[in-house]
Amino acid sequence: MSISPYHSRSNHPRCFNSFHTQLDTMAPAPESFLGSLSQYESLDLTTHIGTSFPNSSVQLSTILGSSNADEQIKDLATLVSQRGVVFFTKQNISLEQQKKLADKLGELSGKPKTSKLHIHPISESTPELGADVSVISSKGGIARAGYVRNTRASAGWHADITFERIPSDYAILKMHTLPKVGGDTLWASGYEAYDRLSPAYKKFLESLTAVHDGNFFVDYAKEHGFPIQDIRGSPENTGSNLTATHPVIRTNPVTGFKTIFVNKGFTKRIVELTPDESDNVLDYLFRHVSENHDFQVRYRWGQDGLAIWDNRSTYHTATNDYDELRQGNRAVSLGEKPFFDPKSRSRREALGIDI
Ligand code: SIN
Repeated sequence: MSISPYHSRSNHPRCFNSFHTQLDTMAPAPESFLGSLSQYESLDLTTHIGTSFPNSSVQLSTILGSSNADEQIKDLATLVSQRGVVFFTKQNISLEQQKKLADKLGELSGKPKTSKLHIHPISESTPELGADVSVISSKGGIARAGYVRNTRASAGWHADITFERIPSDYAILKMHTLPKVGGDTLWASGYEAYDRLSPAYKKFLESLTAVHDGNFFVDYAKEHGFPIQDIRGSPENTGSNLTATHPVIRTNPVTGFKTIFVNKGFTKRIVELTPDESDNVLDYLFRHVSENHDFQVRYRWGQDGLAIWDNRSTYHTATNDYDELRQGNRAVSLGEKPFFDPKSRSRREALGIDI
């Protein structure tokens, strides 16, 4: 087992019941982010983001069926929220188990009871898979709507479904069909993106909100002649206008850390600024995420590889550098309504990181 130097310096809330009060009642730091998962071999893939359980003897299906399943899943939620994305090798987890795990990660870390698994507006899932599974396929659908060939690869950076009023907390993607080479996925840390800004720019961004827009999915549905799903996993995620307004800086309720919450895929406009100012700030922030490879992690998938990420405080993008079929199933859980708590801290502040 290997633990990053940050593990022993963690300081995060252990009370998950109320997002706003937990920040005031931070318990003493546990020894590690791993908690009960420290029994398994793991390694951090980069300094700021990404932890892997490289041994396929660690099976999420076994964890789900274990006598202390809730403890291990709650610790997994904490680990994912701290490290942004966590990888598992050659998983035998079934789709039903994958959905259950996605739901439980949020449930055990305090998501509202009304937040269920997301049903994607252009879910073309089969009845056997269920509408609450997003099929990620190079053939088309969710992963290809809005994709324009020959644009810069960096145009793909996004966090899932931020056009929803209640967006996602956790997502789990298991890849079952892969090209021989290519199709890697990259993730970037929203915590570290925030921490790299000057105090004055941080303060400016903390006063702003932004509009997120997913209406290109409505256009895609019209083009392909099917209706969009207008009830999508939360009483607040309904209707066919796929827009929502969220704070530009958001507090992750599980860690209590501040994160930048705008993404190239869906964020179109900062409400409080003129259109030109808004374009300028968003362009800067999108480049800030895509051009700082020292807070990104790139993952090369293996057969039945599985990734779990926190959509509140990471961004990700697939790599379109292959011709063969690439396919997997994604379960996306809904979290809380995004909020900014001015009392929350940055990750570097909370963990005492100064490199
Ligand atoms: C996604 O955007 O959730 C899918 C990422 C991928 O295809 O690697």
